[in-house]
Amino acid sequence: MATINVMKTMTLVDDILKLKKEKRALVLAHNYQRGEIQDIADYVGDSIELCRRAIEEKDARIIVFSAVDFMAESAAILNPDKKVFIPSSGARCPMARMLPAEEVRLWKKKYPKVPVVLYVNTLAEAKAECDICCTSANVVNVVDSLDADTVLFGPDENLAWNVQQKTGKKIIPIPEGGFCPTHVLFLKEDILLLKESHPDAVVAVHPECTPDVQSIADFVGSTSQICKYVGESSAKKYIIGTEVGIIHRVKKENPGKEFIPAYDGAVCPNMKLNTLERVYLTLKEERNPITVPESVAKKARKALERMVSITQ
Ligand code: 13P
Ligand code: SF4
Repeated sequence: MATINVMKTMTLVDDILKLKKEKRALVLAHNYQRGEIQDIADYVGDSIELCRRAIEEKDARIIVFSAVDFMAESAAILNPDKKVFIPSSGARCPMARMLPAEEVRLWKKKYPKVPVVLYVNTLAEAKAECDICCTSANVVNVVDSLDADTVLFGPDENLAWNVQQKTGKKIIPIPEGGFCPTHVLFLKEDILLLKESHPDAVVAVHPECTPDVQSIADFVGSTSQICKYVGESSAKKYIIGTEVGIIHRVKKENPGKEFIPAYDGAVCPNMKLNTLERVYLTLKEERNPITVPESVAKKARKALERMVSITQ
């Protein structure tokens, strides 16, 4: 049985590589994607890196964006001349649905003079209502770039807490209590217990974790910032507080180092809906195209382009 599965995977990989060439396709994969998808991707990265890569790639005719909806949607908005596809149409980020566009409009009415910064983990209609977008990699630079002491920020309340600590500005979280269901699974108590068994381990976590967890970490950053940090640091052991898909990449890039998930049940089920088979079918049939009405895309593009123009 195991041999049959290995052979099936090998055939799929060969077919994907062939189709990529034939169709001049670029496969982008987020750091949380299954290992086998990361291995066939042209580029693996965090949300801002994938956005930039989609823009910089001039030769690709189509982009298969293996991640969740809001990331593929951002790439489609930023690249109106390219066709963008997602391997699973069900790969939807629940946090992105915690702040609908109507709610952004209500907050804007309540605070008419306060700029609105939205995490890219939102849908296009909400982005169209904001002044500028951000990712966890550039959030501090984005908020600092605004000539305002108070900022409306959503939908992640934990990232809002992080940026308030780092910028000293008053951050009003919209909505109250927005969160990532995967990152709130990390508990300070679990990490402290792991630290007892591995006193030499360094703790690196994502800013979507709770303030409790961020406060005991040695490093807090985006998924690719975590990869960079563990690559450059001299420590041999790391406790990683973000979705477990990242373990594949850090292990591959750092064969001499040990990586311990801060909680091995921290799986984003939405990210995992993309499979190698679905990547193959997407390439072959050009299924699940991402489309955004131009009236919405036009406004969302402004907020995304303003973010991209700010260096990380
Ligand atoms: P990154 O931008 O750090 O890759 O994060 C995206 C995300 O969805 C984290 O849960
Ligand atoms: Fe959304 Fe959380 Fe999954 Fe990231 S890990 S895509 S924020 S549900």
